Amino acid sequence: MTTRLYLSPTPPRNDREGASKSTSASIKHDAYLPPADGNRVLVDRFGRIARDLRVSLTDRCNLRCTYCMPAEGLEWLPTEQTLNDAEVLRLIRIAVVKLGIRQIRFTGGEPLLRKNLEDIIAGTAALRTDEGEKVHIALTTNGLGLDKRIAGLKEAGLDRVNISLDTIDAERYVSLTRRDRLSGVLASIDAAVAAGLHPVKINAVVMPGVNEVDIVPLAEYCISKGAQLRFIEQMPLGPREQWKRGDMVTAEEILARLEEKFTLSPAKEPRGAAPAALWNVVDKSNPDITGQIGIIASVTHPFCGDCDRSRLTTDGTIRNCLFSRTETPLRDALRDGASDDELAQLWAGAMWEKKPGHGIDDEGFLQPDRPMSAIGG
Ligand code: 5AD
Ligand code: SF4
Repeated sequence: MTTRLYLSPTPPRNDREGASKSTSASIKHDAYLPPADGNRVLVDRFGRIARDLRVSLTDRCNLRCTYCMPAEGLEWLPTEQTLNDAEVLRLIRIAVVKLGIRQIRFTGGEPLLRKNLEDIIAGTAALRTDEGEKVHIALTTNGLGLDKRIAGLKEAGLDRVNISLDTIDAERYVSLTRRDRLSGVLASIDAAVAAGLHPVKINAVVMPGVNEVDIVPLAEYCISKGAQLRFIEQMPLGPREQWKRGDMVTAEEILARLEEKFTLSPAKEPRGAAPAALWNVVDKSNPDITGQIGIIASVTHPFCGDCDRSRLTTDGTIRNCLFSRTETPLRDALRDGASDDELAQLWAGAMWEKKPGHGIDDEGFLQPDRPMSAIGG
C-alpha cells in the first residue's frame, strides 16, 4: 500500500500524451474545469474527472457466489478496522462538498447487511452537490431482504437499485450462490419495480459453461417485469481459477445468444468501435414484447477512457480503479485528527495517480490483492 500526498493542484494540461499511447480507450482531453470556489475536483493526469463515488459499506455477504468467494467465505475485516457511520458520512461529505462528487453508489459485500444503512443514505441525501442538487443515490445489492426495506430506503433518499441475478433457474441459483434464496430476490425485484425506483437494473455476470443458458430466460423475465437487464462480462476479480481470458463469454457471444430470440437495435449512438451499451430488443415471436438490455463489455471493450469513478472501501481506503494495485488509506489520517482539507488533499492525490486503463490484456497483468467483495462493485 502506498500513501501519496498530492502537492500540486496544477491542471493536467501538458501530460496527456501518455493517455493516447497507453490505452485504446478514448480519453477526454478537455474535461478539466478549474474549481470556481476554492474546492477541487478529483481529476487524474489524463483529464478524467470523478463524479461517481462507490462506497463499500461492508465486505460481508449472505451469499457465496462462486465467482466471488469460496464456500467458507473470506476472512472478514475486523470491525475496528472498518469505518463507523460518522466516519463514512464525514468522508462522503468531503467527497460531495469539497471534491465534486455528484453520485454515490453504496455497495458491499452486501450493503443491506450494514446496520443503519437507512441513516447513512439519509445523511447523504441531505448533502448538496457543487451544482446545488441532491446527490444521486444508488444501491448495488443481491436483493435479499430488500423487499422489506425498500419503502424505508426510498424514504431515506435512495433513487435507484441494481439487483444482482445471474440465473432464474432455482437449481442453478443454488449452485451459483451456494444458498437457496432465489424466491427472496425475485420478491425484491417486484418490490423495487412497485416502489417506482425506475429503471430497476438487474446485473447478470455471464460465466462460461455456467449460465450462458440463462441469457435468454433472464432477458424474458426482466422484460416481463419492466426491469432493465445488464449482462456483465466476467472480470478477473474473484477466486483465481475462475477466470481465463480465452474462456470468458464475450459481449459478442451474449449478443449472438440474444439474437436467437430478439431483434436488437442500438438504443443509443454506439461509441466509436465499441458495441452500444444499451440495446432495444423486440421479441421475434411477439413484437408486442419489447424492452431494453445493456451489455457491459468491461473486458473486450473497456471504457476506462470515460471512467468517472472513485472508490471508498469499508476500511477507509481510496481506490482509483477496481484493478489498481495501490491504495490510499484515509482511515488512520482521519482518526489521527486530519482536517477536511487534508483528507480532501489525500483523496485528490490518490485519484491523480489513476492509470489510463485496467490493463487486463497487458502482459504481466495482476489481479488486485483485495477481493471484489472488499472493493465494492
Ligand atoms: N466480474 C464482473 N462482475 C462481477 N461482480 C462481482 N464479481 C464480478 C466479476 N468478477 C458483480 C456482481 C454484482 C456487482 C457488485 O459486481 O455480480 O452485480
Ligand atoms: Fe455476495 Fe455479491 Fe460476492 Fe455474490 S457477488 S457473494 S452477492 S458480494
